[in-house]
Amino acid sequence: MSIAALVLAAGRGERLGDALPKAFVPLAGRPLLLRSLGALAAVPEVDRLVPVVAPSDRKHFADLEADFEAELASLSGLAVPVDGGSERQHSVRAGVASLPGEVELVVVHDAARCLVRPADVSRVIDVARRHGAAILAAPVRDTIKRVEAGRVVETPDRASCWAAQTPQVFRTELLREALDRADEDGFLGSDDAQIVERLGVEVRIVEGPPGNLKLTHREDWAVAERWLAAADEGGAS
Ligand code: CTP
Ligand code: MG
Repeated sequence: MSIAALVLAAGRGERLGDALPKAFVPLAGRPLLLRSLGALAAVPEVDRLVPVVAPSDRKHFADLEADFEAELASLSGLAVPVDGGSERQHSVRAGVASLPGEVELVVVHDAARCLVRPADVSRVIDVARRHGAAILAAPVRDTIKRVEAGRVVETPDRASCWAAQTPQVFRTELLREALDRADEDGFLGSDDAQIVERLGVEVRIVEGPPGNLKLTHREDWAVAERWLAAADEGGAS
């Protein structure tokens, strides 16, 4: 089965507020995008790896290629970057549109979630291969409140609440259909699974580790560095 991974890196990183777009900001010396590409390239099932980069960030990608030439050259199946869009969903659409017809399964991953472990990606692929749609997610630790106008309107049962992560893996045809339907309806999902759920299709959950952080704010860098150090000692989970 032909499997492609899209590594989404076209965001601006507004909450981080760095001079560089977030995906190009280093964590312990290596940009998030490079780390995510490396993690996905290490997944044996993935045979095509597509970075999705904003057209205005081509120079940053060229710098990455120059600074990490040997490392990028060693990544199997790395394709040329595809132009992302102004919304994450548009970047996903561009990535999916670039895939050759034989790609049966697509792995969507945020460059910002650069601590992802290849074995966890393989577990999601395995479930999506059998069921069509699967995502990595972690049980929430806090009690979740639904709030409107500063007032709690609902407290969902915590046992039923999970925090969605990436990768999210879908049969390519299913994701194409979900993107078409979302476009027709002018719907922007907060993740890829949501637009697939709208089709009435079941999305399976694969439990992901708490260390699969999405680096968002400046303080997340120190936390991620601790996870990296723990992984080096063989203690990460
Ligand atoms: N992303 C993308 N295209 C967009 C928006 C986001 O490819 N138009 C990517 C980001 O590069 C990131 C991932 O989607 O790897 C998750 O998005 P997020 O963490 O929100 O990153 P940013 O959008 O860059 O950050 P912010 O929302 O703070 O601007
Ligand atoms: Mg964003």
